[in-house]
Amino acid sequence: MEKLKIAGGYPLKGTVRVSGAKNSAVALIPATILAESPVTIEGLPDISDVEILKDLLEEIGGKVNITDDEMTVDPSRMISMPLPNGKVKMLRASYYLMGAMLGRFKKAVIGLPGGCHLGPRPIDQHIKGFEALGAQITNEQGAIYLRADELRGARIYLDVVSVGATINIMLAAVRAKGRTIIENAAKEPEIIDVATLLTNMGAKIKGAGTDVIRIDGVDSLHGCRHTIIPDRIEAGTYMILGAAIGEGVLIDNVIPQHLESLIAKLREMGVNIESGDDQVFVNGPSNLKAVDIKTLVYPGFPTDLQQPFTALLTKAAGSSVVTDTIYGARFKHIDELRRMNANIKVEGRSAIISGPVQLHGAKVKASDLRAGAALFIAGLMAEGITEVTGLDHIDRGYSNLVEKLNGLGATVWREALTQEELEHLKNT
Ligand code: EPU
Repeated sequence: MEKLKIAGGYPLKGTVRVSGAKNSAVALIPATILAESPVTIEGLPDISDVEILKDLLEEIGGKVNITDDEMTVDPSRMISMPLPNGKVKMLRASYYLMGAMLGRFKKAVIGLPGGCHLGPRPIDQHIKGFEALGAQITNEQGAIYLRADELRGARIYLDVVSVGATINIMLAAVRAKGRTIIENAAKEPEIIDVATLLTNMGAKIKGAGTDVIRIDGVDSLHGCRHTIIPDRIEAGTYMILGAAIGEGVLIDNVIPQHLESLIAKLREMGVNIESGDDQVFVNGPSNLKAVDIKTLVYPGFPTDLQQPFTALLTKAAGSSVVTDTIYGARFKHIDELRRMNANIKVEGRSAIISGPVQLHGAKVKASDLRAGAALFIAGLMAEGITEVTGLDHIDRGYSNLVEKLNGLGATVWREALTQEELEHLKNT
């Protein structure tokens, strides 16, 4: 096990290239199960969630090849092997195996998903959707058992706008008989990306990216080649860093339209941003103004950038309020930021940040992926050395982080944990 060490206080300058989107990748890889011939996905990020999904596809008989950032999956010999335990518990997105295996095999046994602890993360809308398509579902000893004699298209209204439920229902519905209509669907760019892959595989989907998606089921799906969209959350993280300590940071391979809410907020703070077709240039001013943000479903401000943005707000003059309407308990980074001298109070679903303060280096722990991002941003903003443990969370979502940060002029390195630190981590 390793920790991330950061010598903070140095400005960042130069170009960073964004990798393929994690939250697309983790759905696109399970979606390959639905095809009957090889599917190639280009532009995959180098993150641990991709590795885990590769292993899971191999467990059910898939032949998977990865070269550089390209994965080819031959799903022709896959079988509906039960996956009640083990690696499925390591990531949230293993729930996409339910929709994909139900679609292809009409049965699946999948352990309840793991992932970041952001408060309660129910999957009732996924289950509601599968049941509407004709599946019988039981929950036995921490695993979900799904079975259908036949999947039939249905009209499904999501009571909660959910990215996961929208994609999961799409995965099963492409192989159902007849038409499925998902109402109150989520509109995130990752949903369009998955719909594009499925369409290239022969599926009939209309309306992805709007709140009504229509799917006409087909009898079989075939292989294809697909290029994944850039990771808007990784891009946003580097934009926040550019605003905090950048002296001219160019973020390359980004779709600026995916980040309009962040760009608007950064401009409100006084950050200079220029955006091109697939690049964004960020120049951090010496004085930042306090702003309020409220996380919302797309195209609102993304909850996944709430924690990184909080780190930036410690540098802004005045009082900022950050409210998370998606995950009301996504505040585990706050105590760690306080150790670094941040002045933040949490009240219900909101964090109130008073600034500006100069952050100090400290030993801190990432409790989840984006808390980790908040902490490495804070470490780069701070005076002195910061040590971030819980690196396994950060490795789930940030491809080649150390190389990318050092490429911008940061001084960041990984170091093995001492025996004493390992013991301490086990006990906390
Ligand atoms: N919800 C329900 N019932 C459900 C599903 C969701 O009540 O059946 C609630 C959730 O508890 C939450 C809200 O609906 O309050 C939205 O959840 P959603 O289903 O949209 O989230 P998700 O699909 O589980 C994905 C991303 C998250 C990101 C959220 C919101 C993946 C693998 N994960 O999660 O990404 O925060 O959408 O945009 O795509 C991250 O990247 O750090 C991360 C956590």
